[in-house]
Amino acid sequence: MEAIVTLCKRRGFVYQSSEIYGGYAGFFDYGPLGSEIKKNIKDAWWSAMVQVREDVVGIDSTIIMHPEIWRASGHVAGFSDPMVDCKETNLRYRADQLFYAPVKVTSEDGTTQELGFVSALEDVNMQAALKKRASTARKAAGIKGAKVDEVLLKEGLKEFTESTEEERAVCWGPDASKAGTLTEPRHFNLMFETKVGPLASDDAVAYLRPETAQGIFQNYKNVVDTTRVKVPFGIAQIGKAFRNEITPRNFIFRSREFEQMEMEFFIDPDEESRLKWFRYWLDWSTQWLVSIGIPADMISEDVHPMEKLSHYSKGTTDLMFRFPFGVQELWGIACRGNFDLTQHEKHSGKSMEYFDEERKTAGKEPFKYIPSVVEPSLGVDRTFLAVMTSAYQEDEIPNDKGVPEKRLVLRFHPRIAPFKAAVFPLLKNKPELVEKARGLFSVLSKRWNTGYDASGAIGRRYRRQDEIGTPYCITVDFEAIEGDGSVTIRDRDTTEQVRVPIDEVEAWLSAKLGF
Ligand code: GAP
Repeated sequence: MEAIVTLCKRRGFVYQSSEIYGGYAGFFDYGPLGSEIKKNIKDAWWSAMVQVREDVVGIDSTIIMHPEIWRASGHVAGFSDPMVDCKETNLRYRADQLFYAPVKVTSEDGTTQELGFVSALEDVNMQAALKKRASTARKAAGIKGAKVDEVLLKEGLKEFTESTEEERAVCWGPDASKAGTLTEPRHFNLMFETKVGPLASDDAVAYLRPETAQGIFQNYKNVVDTTRVKVPFGIAQIGKAFRNEITPRNFIFRSREFEQMEMEFFIDPDEESRLKWFRYWLDWSTQWLVSIGIPADMISEDVHPMEKLSHYSKGTTDLMFRFPFGVQELWGIACRGNFDLTQHEKHSGKSMEYFDEERKTAGKEPFKYIPSVVEPSLGVDRTFLAVMTSAYQEDEIPNDKGVPEKRLVLRFHPRIAPFKAAVFPLLKNKPELVEKARGLFSVLSKRWNTGYDASGAIGRRYRRQDEIGTPYCITVDFEAIEGDGSVTIRDRDTTEQVRVPIDEVEAWLSAKLGF
């Protein structure tokens, strides 16, 4: 993870927001290369989700909407995470990401002692963190030479939301220097508030949207009335969402400002439709991830238990990805039932009923209903991190002298790569070579994002492009001006080189890239 974060900064993929002011927790900026990748991810999703499908249309709604929408959707009352404060350090933790376990120490003579509890945030290194805390607890109790009973740390693990007052009184916080400093979990609403209009009264309170989905639900009637969509159909949207996360963590994985790609798929109320479309969108989503270069064996499914479902959901399965910090949610696929539209009907007084002509003709009841919804909801930033993680590799290739050398390479799928090709004149002080290379660059860059690099040895230029994942490097050498008019094209993944006539490079590249 550290290597990815460092590379992201060094090569201009992702910067910490407000860095010159010391940064701002939970906010990130995308640099020249990162913003290209982000755009490519969004374009690939939009193309597969909207452009090539006849049953999905797109919209682009506002970030700030009528505040009643968030009361109707249940977000004002229920969009919260359980939060725990540490009274000593003033640090805050999400209670459902905080785990605690009992500590028992066993001395050499076999006597055991209970030393309360230790806690740590959920992480791949959580067991190590718990063990360290347990040793601190042992030392604080003045016990020498006793072993911490690790089985308890492993098997006695419980979510902090389940802790009792008695347990918290003897529990060590993840960063505290003594036990008993963690508060009882309490609910913290994640929506950012703002005020709209010149009067800063309470009536002016509005919210930055915490999901793009409500922009779709409040436009459902508009889309049905103004287009020719028929159930089953979907409305898709890509846009910013904001959540005042208690513990923004793991780089861009959990941030306070992020982008979502969401689609609400409206279906009839039959249970078999729900099951059919739910499976369909799970499979579709997995295949889309594979189509942008994420290996299938890094993706898995996680079915949410009923008691952990969001307030709107009747069933959710997450597509999980093996991030460097553990297997975590990448894409949530939820059955929202008709919860949202029913709520908006109640709060707005406008009918959300759909008249299903086909069902009426077939004599199928009901033919007037509020549609159910299956929602695939994916974060752009998490996809970016998954793409980066999948592409990142360190391998060994021969250098200019044939000696094996370590290289860092990003094996992006060509659709996602920020540059599809880079053009190099062999020598920067030979005007004929530069002119030819510039000419080729100007042809290719009209069609694809193309790099141009004239400085340093060719080997070093290859390495620079490998590090940013450019699939093909094209060197314009003397053959192009004095010989058979060909250039060299080098493949990022195999490092093999072929000669292609300069006039045929565009067609060659198009065939290789497939677009
Ligand atoms: N409309 C449903 C919804 O918003 P969610 O599971 O809360 O469901 C959907 O979010 C997706 O949005 C997640 O699977 C994740 O990819 C992304 N996401 C959610 N919170 C995020 C955060 N704080 N930072 C980055 N991405 C986030």
